[in-house]
Amino acid sequence: MSEKQVKKIDVGLRQFIKDMGYITGGAALLGTMPWLQSFTPDKLNELKREKARIALIGTGSRGQYHIHSLLSMEHIKIVALCDIYPPNLEIAATLCPQAKKYTDYRKMLESPDIDGVVIATPLNWHAPMVLDALSAGKHVFCEKSMALTMEQCKAIYDTYQATDRVLYFCMQRMFDEKYIKGMQMIHTGMIGDVVGARCHWFRNHDWRRPVPSPELEKQINWRLYRESSGGLMTELASHQLEVCNWATKRIPQSVVGMGDIVYWKDGREVYDSVSLTYRYNSGVKITYESLISNKFDGMEDQILGNKGTMNLATGKYFLENDNTTGNSGIEQLLNQIGNKVFAAVPAAGSSWRPETKKEYKPHYIIEGDYHINDGLSMIGAVKDGSDEILSSFCQACITGDKGKDIVEEAYSATMLCLLGNQSMDEQRVIAFPEEYKIPYMHF
Ligand SMILES: NC(=O)c1ccc[n+]([C@@H]2O[C@H](COP(=O)([O-])OP(=O)(O)OC[C@H]3O[C@@H](n4cnc5c(N)ncnc54)[C@H](O)[C@@H]3O)[C@@H](O)[C@H]2O)c1
Repeated sequence: MSEKQVKKIDVGLRQFIKDMGYITGGAALLGTMPWLQSFTPDKLNELKREKARIALIGTGSRGQYHIHSLLSMEHIKIVALCDIYPPNLEIAATLCPQAKKYTDYRKMLESPDIDGVVIATPLNWHAPMVLDALSAGKHVFCEKSMALTMEQCKAIYDTYQATDRVLYFCMQRMFDEKYIKGMQMIHTGMIGDVVGARCHWFRNHDWRRPVPSPELEKQINWRLYRESSGGLMTELASHQLEVCNWATKRIPQSVVGMGDIVYWKDGREVYDSVSLTYRYNSGVKITYESLISNKFDGMEDQILGNKGTMNLATGKYFLENDNTTGNSGIEQLLNQIGNKVFAAVPAAGSSWRPETKKEYKPHYIIEGDYHINDGLSMIGAVKDGSDEILSSFCQACITGDKGKDIVEEAYSATMLCLLGNQSMDEQRVIAFPEEYKIPYMHF
């Protein structure tokens, strides 16, 4: 690996935070996004020449992605790997031959030579592994979502309150430059009052993986079964609901949704089609939709304001006054009726101009092609914040700095996903339960 590649991950976000500091006042940025503290130039000096000793549990698809990222970081070394599935463990071992191999994560946690543990296992394993690793005195970075059940999430949150260990969940949008800057624009009023949010994630793929022998079906295709997965909500929506919470600085008070298996009727237990509405106390709503049998609309996180729309995932924003059609359709209709131009009724009138987003001129949250992502899935996308959040965690394994607000954001987003699933299962409106509210949440 070249010298240039080695420092790329850290330098990118560090430089960005520095630049943002010049533009807007670093203190203001860090005041609203305190988890970025680790990327300030001062913090970099604290690292000196130390290296965090990192172990991985779960060396499947996401675990291998993290290994590649870790290998490009300066301030870490990978000392141990754990997986119960030999083929994945072997691939990982090839990538880091110096690391000790384990098949029992509890055994691995007994090692005193590990500072931090990265967990990239199926969702049902998150809670036991996070809790065991914290109680073994390790710092922990766990993949999203937080856990499979609300009880587990609360147990993790309560344990975190009582520990001095670092705990991160991979809410990578919190470390994604375009989200950071877009949120700052929202919070300083660029799109006016937030009046709604629309998020969707559409793919056309069955989510299945080939299984070498039938008894491995549930282990390999864990995403499809309720004992190990919350389906589209915990796999995809958790990122997007976190974005809505971050934008509004509020948590929805209730949710109602419908979920179905519409297309992939292959024995799976989780929905392949979900539509939900989350409602804040103010009446502002998030509409959330995900479908994995049509990818036309891709993935978008839209925050809607009375003065504009921040389309964070695509790296663009649109201002209401830029709409090149002039008056909106409804204004045209009212004017026409007011002027008694009855011939130009909506259905027939050729002068009826469509109110679509195509009429808006895009502005770019950050200049530069690689920030633009027209609805494509973000997984594995360049600079989606995954490398940066992991790097921040590794740094925290050296400094001991707790990543502010990350656990709280992950907790809030995961709870909303699980409440969404409950609403779809029980086909009713669910209010956010009092027993799961935490002081961080504002409704
Ligand atoms: N943040 C993101 O954008 C993102 C992207 C992809 C996946 N993920 C998350 O990463 C996690 C893993 O997803 P994946 O796609 O890599 O799944 P995967 O099935 O490819 O990998 C999971 C690995 O965990 C191993 N494993 C299962 N139980 C284990 C145990 N008890 N001990 C040790 N190893 C065990 C499996 O053998 C497998 O190798 C999930 O929580 C998923 O939601 C997050």
